[in-house]
Amino acid sequence: MQGLYRIALLPGDGIGPEVIAEAVKVLRVIESFHNLIFRFQTGLIGGCAIDATATPLPAETVSICNNSQAILLGAVGGPQWDSKRPEARPEQGLLQIRKRLGLFVNLRPVKVLDSLAHLSAIKPALVRGTDMMIVRELMGGIYFGNPRGIFAKNGEKMGVNTEIYREHEIERVAHRGFQLARTRRRKVTSVDKANVLEASQLWREVVTRIGHGYPDVELNHLYIDNCAMQLIERPTSFDVVLASNMFGDILSDEAAMVAGSIGLVPSASLGEQTALYEPIHGSAPDIAGRNRANPIAAILSAAMMMRYSFRMDGAADAVETAVERVMKRGMHTAEIAGRGRAASTSRMGSLIAEETGKVLKAQSLPKKKKRG
Ligand code: IPM
Ligand code: MG
Repeated sequence: MQGLYRIALLPGDGIGPEVIAEAVKVLRVIESFHNLIFRFQTGLIGGCAIDATATPLPAETVSICNNSQAILLGAVGGPQWDSKRPEARPEQGLLQIRKRLGLFVNLRPVKVLDSLAHLSAIKPALVRGTDMMIVRELMGGIYFGNPRGIFAKNGEKMGVNTEIYREHEIERVAHRGFQLARTRRRKVTSVDKANVLEASQLWREVVTRIGHGYPDVELNHLYIDNCAMQLIERPTSFDVVLASNMFGDILSDEAAMVAGSIGLVPSASLGEQTALYEPIHGSAPDIAGRNRANPIAAILSAAMMMRYSFRMDGAADAVETAVERVMKRGMHTAEIAGRGRAASTSRMGSLIAEETGKVLKAQSLPKKKKRG
């Protein structure tokens, strides 16, 4: 394996820079083992970009991203920017980059490892074996629909947002969901609110039609409220969860708590060209700069980059195995360790980087023996 890979780093705000630094540690280990070069270019996004350039997504950041094969993003947002007009808030940086790069599908894997089932907010017996992939539509829905805004009407203010889904937007994300199900347990649960919303009725109709092209995949539909309940009641029954932008956002935070911590869930945002990888957690301003954040979601996002952008499944497996091993040893960051002894962000990152090196070494051994 050889070559040059261009990676854009957008650390962002709050704990973003801290967790991205740890993911880079792990990428450096992969680089040294595989005789390849990761060329990193760092850009501003979110609040830090507003402070430096008065916009949450500077043109320079867009061009860095366009020049990269993959992007690793930390988090955006923080209380100091909360008072901004909605279109000038840090979150707009993230929403705009998703849109600009055409990233229409967002994969959020939620897996509960046997040895870690006790971490869950739910009884271990219920969560053990949970392994789902939330497939979230990322470029449409109420996040982007017009009209939107806060308007004055009849002497009072009125807040307006619009949920819009066009057929092709539902079709392309549904295809990705069904294709992914074929690599897993061949089950898709599509989430909507078709008993109330027209956009959801179309969602259900289109997903059903696309599903006919995948007769080997079992499809069922759940209303969002019922799905939220069943996710807690029987999380192991879910395989691929196909959801709109908004419903996927909500369900993925919920599912993260089934896994034990929001600090554990990575994501991949894919389109036709480049791809963006980011932890699903936010900027956690309350713990920013204190070396307390969990870097695992960022590290696992880097692993997803290896898998989906660079087709380096061995490297991705190595990182995932390293994370499992370090956690199995009882090493946890503060949000999981509770009152027990916690590992700092940088210590956790170093342990996982070191363990990744060991796994990569072990992966390469049998091949060497064969050659000899
Ligand atoms: C996420 C986040 C973002 C979203 C915010 C920060 C705009 O919650 O990636 O889940 O809602 O998509
Ligand atoms: Mg979210």
